[in-house]
Amino acid sequence: MDRAAARLRGAGIEGARRDARMLLAAALGVEAAQVMAYPERLASAGQEAALERALARRVRREPVSRILGRREFWGLEFLITPDTLDPRPDSETLVAAVLERLAGRDGPLWILDLGTGSGCLLLALLSELRAAEGLGIDADPGALTVARENAARLGLAGRARFAAGDWAQGLTGAWQAIVSNPPYIIHGEIDELSPEVAKYDPRLALDAGPDGLGSYRKIVPRAADLLAPEGVLILEIGAGQGDAVERLLRQSGLDAIERLRDLSGTERCLVARPA
Ligand SMILES: C[S@@+](CC[C@H](N)C(=O)[O-])C[C@H]1O[C@@H](n2cnc3c(N)ncnc32)[C@H](O)[C@@H]1O
Repeated sequence: MDRAAARLRGAGIEGARRDARMLLAAALGVEAAQVMAYPERLASAGQEAALERALARRVRREPVSRILGRREFWGLEFLITPDTLDPRPDSETLVAAVLERLAGRDGPLWILDLGTGSGCLLLALLSELRAAEGLGIDADPGALTVARENAARLGLAGRARFAAGDWAQGLTGAWQAIVSNPPYIIHGEIDELSPEVAKYDPRLALDAGPDGLGSYRKIVPRAADLLAPEGVLILEIGAGQGDAVERLLRQSGLDAIERLRDLSGTERCLVARPA
């Protein structure tokens, strides 16, 4: 454990000890909490080699979640692949916001998730809202395969459908909740992000054109048409995008706009309702 952590620390990895513990646990096939009980020498040459491969990937700045192929979100385990964004803890703000706003509602609940990726937002919501059904849309067929597998693993496949699409184009209906964590990074700024993001998250999940607002321009007008009268639209935003996205929401006739912060105090999502 000490040796693995020192290797990562030497490569300038922040949180080297935590990462070393997770990679060592995976190599040993045990829970991270059990790692402290293991001596420095691993049980088998195969485990030594597995740890070595994992450390080499982390040194190249691949996130631990990608090396392991899974990420915990909303207390649930999600598979991730190179086709999916690595779900961020900050996006749990959206899940909490939807749950608060739908609490106590009777009747059917239809939830639409635009840009579903691993399916984390939709599936976290369905895991809490037992009467709800949902549709996740993504432009990347590889992401949809992962989302479907996550739904099956979480026992939610009966209430979650996933389909290929360009945002909400061609969809109909009146949805009680529309959620989206779309790409919102300015094209020219992607390479300035940490290597964990710039090198490993899919570009399709990050790139929102020259001003970072391209996805919102497409999503907001369609979402405004698709919301039920009592529906809510909840959008994740990037730092400093609140004013611009709020303008787009108002231009599309949406109202009662609230801005919510994540746990680190950064404005993270906007909630809007039909006027
Ligand atoms: C920032 S990721 C969010 C993924 C997931 N919802 C999450 O929060 O982890 C944005 C997602 O939008 C998808 N996407 C990009 N352009 C799209 C489009 N035109 N139509 C539908 N989905 C799109 C990407 O493939 C990616 O999965």
